[in-house]
Amino acid sequence: MSKWIKYMLKEEIVKIKNNFEEELKKVNNVEMLFELEKKYLGRKSKFSDLLKNLKNISSEKRKTVGELANNTKKELLKKLQTKKQEIITTNFDWEREKIDITIPGKQQGVGHLNPISLVRSEIEDIFLRMGYEISDGPEIETEFYNFDALNIPQDHPARDMQDTFWLKEHIQKGDKKERLSMRSQTSAMQARYMQKHKPPFRIIAPGKCFRNEATDTTHEHTFYQFEALVVGDDINVGHLKFVAETFFSEFFAQKVKIRLRPSYFPFTEPGFEFDISCLVCGGKGCRACQGNGWLELGGAGMVNQNVFVSAGYPRNRYTGFAWGFGFERLAMMKYKIDDVRLFHGGDLRFIKQF
Ligand code: FA5
Repeated sequence: MSKWIKYMLKEEIVKIKNNFEEELKKVNNVEMLFELEKKYLGRKSKFSDLLKNLKNISSEKRKTVGELANNTKKELLKKLQTKKQEIITTNFDWEREKIDITIPGKQQGVGHLNPISLVRSEIEDIFLRMGYEISDGPEIETEFYNFDALNIPQDHPARDMQDTFWLKEHIQKGDKKERLSMRSQTSAMQARYMQKHKPPFRIIAPGKCFRNEATDTTHEHTFYQFEALVVGDDINVGHLKFVAETFFSEFFAQKVKIRLRPSYFPFTEPGFEFDISCLVCGGKGCRACQGNGWLELGGAGMVNQNVFVSAGYPRNRYTGFAWGFGFERLAMMKYKIDDVRLFHGGDLRFIKQF
């Protein structure tokens, strides 16, 4: 019985091979070739049915028939491969596919950095050279760091809806809920940093700030500030002025006139408003300085002792100065831009100039 099956199987293999070769002659495209492969070698093909029957013959005979089946399968696969090459070569449309390597390539557009990014890296470079550390903080801030720790009274107008973007979310602190807002000033970094570091230190903390206010040529709802904070044993206003003058002379690569006006910030004592002469108009008055020849760049002052206490330092143990300047206003001066709204306006004609 087994001998008869062996004979039948051998016959069948030869028959399959002959039929395959006959059909292969008629194939003239890749789709037909694929169908032929499926018919003769696929999972439901005659060939795989035949291989299943091998289990019905003795192991010795299975070996010879199995070898014949495998060799035949390899032969069919090779023929399919050769035919495929033949079809590709004859059907290839040389005219359509030819490449003219003499045609000039398409020029790739070059990306540009927003002047805010340029200014930021320049500021960071100058301060790193002066031995400052760069610190970073969150854009969503707790009421403690943005206001309480900065000695800002509960009824201060800056906490109003008009200035601060308050969030619906709160964080739970024990049995009290603490309000969250978008950071309105980088001064929020002061207590954050002090809680984790012991003086002496000098840092800058650049970052995005958000204020709920009407926009005009010098005001945006989203803008960048950088905080400078220096704390040690004998820091005084002279250090503040010296560092500011060194920074501005480096940044603008020229001597710049500086004006400190007495001002009030709850987290400073004394506090100053900090102006530089308008470099867009040379002090004559233009849109950028709103006609008065000076541009308000930021606030500054000696750190109020209440801020040290909020951060966990002993009262009157240290002194320090801090300032907070707007990046946009620095960039406006540097690149002679007369409207702050251009920075985030998304107009590519503006960005491509940098
Ligand atoms: C402050 O934000 C204080 N935190 C600065 C400070 C730090 C004072 C440390 C003392 C000690 P003020 O609100 O004035 O202060 O903002 C500081 C600077 O940020 C402004 O002078 C301006 O350059 C920039 N700025 C403020 N609001 C806007 C705005 N809406 N658009 C663009 N720039 C702004």
